Amino acid sequence: MCGIFGYTGNREAKEILLHGLRRLEYRGYDSAGICVIGENGDFKRLRVRGNLDILENHLANQVMPGKIGIAHTRWATHGAPSEQNAHPHSDCHENLFVVHNGIIENFSQLRGELLERGHEFSSETDTEIIAHLIEEKYEGDLSVAVREAIRQLEGSFAIAVVHRGEPETLVAARRESPLVIGVGTDEWFVASAVPAFLSMTRKVIFLEDNEIVTVCGKSLRITDLDGVEIERKPQEITWDLDAAEKSGYEDFMLKEIFEQPRAFMDTLADKFSREGEISIEGFFSNKDYVMSLRRIVIVACGTSYHAGLISRYLFEQWAKVPVEVEIASEFRYRGAVLSEQDLIIAISQSGETADTLASVREAKAAKVPVIALVNVVGSQMTREADSVIYTHAGPEIGVAATKTFTSQMAALAVLALHFGRIRDALSDGKYGVIAEALRGIPVLMKDVLADIEPIAECAQEYSHCENFLFLGRGISYPVALEGALKLKEISYIHAEGYPAGEMKHGPIALLDRRVPVVAVVTRDSLYEKMVSNIEEVKARGAPVIAIASTGDPDIEKVCDRVLRVPETIELLSPPLTVIPLQLLAYHIAKIRGCNVDQPRNLAKTVTVE
Ligand code: G6P
Repeated sequence: MCGIFGYTGNREAKEILLHGLRRLEYRGYDSAGICVIGENGDFKRLRVRGNLDILENHLANQVMPGKIGIAHTRWATHGAPSEQNAHPHSDCHENLFVVHNGIIENFSQLRGELLERGHEFSSETDTEIIAHLIEEKYEGDLSVAVREAIRQLEGSFAIAVVHRGEPETLVAARRESPLVIGVGTDEWFVASAVPAFLSMTRKVIFLEDNEIVTVCGKSLRITDLDGVEIERKPQEITWDLDAAEKSGYEDFMLKEIFEQPRAFMDTLADKFSREGEISIEGFFSNKDYVMSLRRIVIVACGTSYHAGLISRYLFEQWAKVPVEVEIASEFRYRGAVLSEQDLIIAISQSGETADTLASVREAKAAKVPVIALVNVVGSQMTREADSVIYTHAGPEIGVAATKTFTSQMAALAVLALHFGRIRDALSDGKYGVIAEALRGIPVLMKDVLADIEPIAECAQEYSHCENFLFLGRGISYPVALEGALKLKEISYIHAEGYPAGEMKHGPIALLDRRVPVVAVVTRDSLYEKMVSNIEEVKARGAPVIAIASTGDPDIEKVCDRVLRVPETIELLSPPLTVIPLQLLAYHIAKIRGCNVDQPRNLAKTVTVE
């Protein structure tokens, strides 16, 4: 996720662009840049590594005359955070400039073709290829060139483009990444989100997928990919700034829960080739290395630890590698016996968690290779690990992890499949079925998010309870742990996650009608066993809330409330079953008046022991 912003009108662009970027900073803050074009086609561009303060400091004494420009605040995906990789990017001759939010999936192929045709690149980004594609198509009309260029792109993008030869024209386009047009008086704004220009205009036009907008002077023109004109009237925004930053959602956490299909898809996007084969690179892709692997040890904290627990089932069943999953704060002091045939996978959203980092250092000291699975590009862990795999969830503002959790599952599933392939543990047929199901998950996530009313009603009914028990078996056991963690983190209710089969050995003593039990009971290989556990709960008078498959009418008979999720293959159910649990925790916390984005005593990133 990045923030893009563009302006054309009758005022000086520099300050307006900086103001807009400030309002988009929550979308990314590892580098920033701005480019302004003067009336005679002169341009000034400045890019920095780091946040907006750094950009502003650099700009403080610089004159940047011009009434048109584009700006960007970056959350790195392709290429580390650096000045060279910061936007705006340009073509070979610095005639045109592009800012981009999204991921171009066929970037390697397009880059290769452009190189063959003599283009030279100055960054490692996928964005730079867009500038070069537009350059190739430019024959005096920027709008047409952008349209021709984006037809070649696969993946997601929102772009804003300016050209020195047309120093009043701003062209923008989108597919799957957000883009909104602000309509002023003889001035125009394009941005990733409304807050960027809300203090300057409340009149907006939302651009749809595969549409291109060209604004210049008093004119606005929207077309589709074939150049057919589209009529669209502006709407009036009534939200305040705070709501606008959250795209109209009440809280960042809720917004991030709803971003999960996108985050999951983006995380998969750069890990599969166009032919559906896995394309991730690192020492772990070497056949001899993977064949010699004796054990995987996963280290992580909090929600990332739960993603690790889920992935154990995948690595063991698909790749036939034994896996241990360790809480990093325990692992680092345990004097664990490690060998060079082990592989450490450190999972961390932030890449800065002190205990996970210390575990990475322990492993390195024992000469064990380390893969870091991280969301924040350029974070400490990415510098210390031997290889890095990224989730592409974008910045997560809510302290309680949601979209980064499901994105971790996406990345870990790809890695488990990758090892399964290399170790010949998966037949072609089985690989095909799993890969297809994996790529189908975002659509199923959207289905879960389309029907959230029953979850809110359920929260209303049980929000007064002071204790909850979450149960699951097999792949749903770590999901139950995560459901309990979410509830306690944001609503301060005591909640325990337990493997359902273990309930008889303790937690059953706690049960009565005041202790709701949340049971994750999809139609899988342990379904009957799980139903027996639910019967045991019911016999003790505790109410049962089931997270169950859509095609399971019988579950209603043994449960008080049923929250439905679509069916998929067993090991891929967690990104679906966890969503109702996130939303249940969210709604209960809201009913109890808690601050869900910043729960008491918790920090987003724990950089101390
Ligand atoms: C904190 C956060 C959690 C997160 C955990 C691990 O406790 O509040 O949401 O799961 O740290 O963070 P990491 O960045 O290493 O995934």
